[in-house]
Amino acid sequence: MAIVKSDVSFIENVVAKYPTTKGGIVAILQEIQEREGYLSPDALDETARLTGISVNEIYGVATFYSFYKFNPPGRHVIQVCLGTACHVRGGSKILKELERLLKIKVGEVTPDGKFELNRIACLGCCALEPVVAIDGKFYPRVTARKLPAILAEYQD
Ligand code: FES
Repeated sequence: MAIVKSDVSFIENVVAKYPTTKGGIVAILQEIQEREGYLSPDALDETARLTGISVNEIYGVATFYSFYKFNPPGRHVIQVCLGTACHVRGGSKILKELERLLKIKVGEVTPDGKFELNRIACLGCCALEPVVAIDGKFYPRVTARKLPAILAEYQD
């Protein structure tokens, strides 16, 4: 998919704000991801063209940090808490069951782009363990049996 003109001028503006150093590249990529939700190959190419730094080098910087994403985000973001309280009460089982139901691994997006599956260290409501959040909505005391009904709430 070709990058659209508005994205090119957005990237031009971002690149102009930062030095073409490693730290500058980190900041540039962060702004691009904040807007686009991920770093597309076209955005990486455009950043390389505008900074004069090779796309391989830029990709090397991006892959060093785990917070960069290289695929479009899912329409619904699932976060499975694996903090201590949730882990003890079966958080990993919940995650495994979601991987089975959605046929993806943690960190991936379903082929239809509907769900993105992530784990998180703590959602901040440990008394409700184990907790799953979808698009910011919290599901307390989740069990594997409850998951199909929870996922069915998300039709689009
Ligand atoms: S450990 Fe799961 S919400 Fe804190």
